[in-house]
Amino acid sequence: MLETIKQTAEYLKQRTGLSPKYGIILGSGLGGLVDEIEIQHKIPYTEIPNFPVSTVEGHSGNLIFGNLGGKLVVAMQGRFHFYEGYAMEQVVFPVRVLKYIGVETLFVSNAAGGMNPAFEIGDLMLINDHLNLQPNPLIGPNNKELGPRFPDMSEPYSHVLLEKAEKVAASIGIKVQKGVYASVTGPTFETPAEYRWFWRIGADAVGMSTVPEVIVARHMGVECFAVSVITDLGVEGQVHKVSHEEVLQAANIASGKLTKLITELVREL
Ligand code: HPA
Repeated sequence: MLETIKQTAEYLKQRTGLSPKYGIILGSGLGGLVDEIEIQHKIPYTEIPNFPVSTVEGHSGNLIFGNLGGKLVVAMQGRFHFYEGYAMEQVVFPVRVLKYIGVETLFVSNAAGGMNPAFEIGDLMLINDHLNLQPNPLIGPNNKELGPRFPDMSEPYSHVLLEKAEKVAASIGIKVQKGVYASVTGPTFETPAEYRWFWRIGADAVGMSTVPEVIVARHMGVECFAVSVITDLGVEGQVHKVSHEEVLQAANIASGKLTKLITELVREL
């Protein structure tokens, strides 16, 4: 597996001549950030050796190299989800490739359902911890070159980046929430009892991504920062029908705020 990761990273480094230190994963309906990147290379996933190909509507599937907030970044426009049928190893493959390209800090975004009654649709929630309710992507033989067998998870989301992000958000007038993200496989949205359960066990929001990527990033020593856009509410007594279209629409509306926050945060680094 390591050979495949290195081969893909080598291909990308040779094709672009670039080794960005900052990686970004864009969630459903949150691709707007790409418009802020001064693009140098836009590489369809289909052209990248060993890359899985994304299948979900709203995920275009390009790896983008360019400048954002004065920094060289590599952004994944489209990610891979366990519910699509990929093995966990495939879901997290691109993150491992990013590390071998040179990425030291990973910014992740997603759309999520909010259980915290203080949340509103369109809110940004800085993820300060998570509950992993998907299969752990590190199950299986461990390659020491990637990271330790039993990785520490005491600080999955960098406190330094969280503090910086709060300051940046305040300075540009963007309201942010903070909270715990529960990561589930999906593809079903939650039943009212499930939302209630996740809230009671300590999650503020729930979604179907992010945590597998963060776990492998932390395994490799990559710093992480993640934001959920609250696209629907799983608040007791307020659970309505949810559709993928509604999630995408709400994400699109909030996408501008997320773009500003990440751009300005990257500028501060
Ligand atoms: N549940 C799970 N995943 C989601 C949700 C949700 O309510 N909204 C957006 N992604």
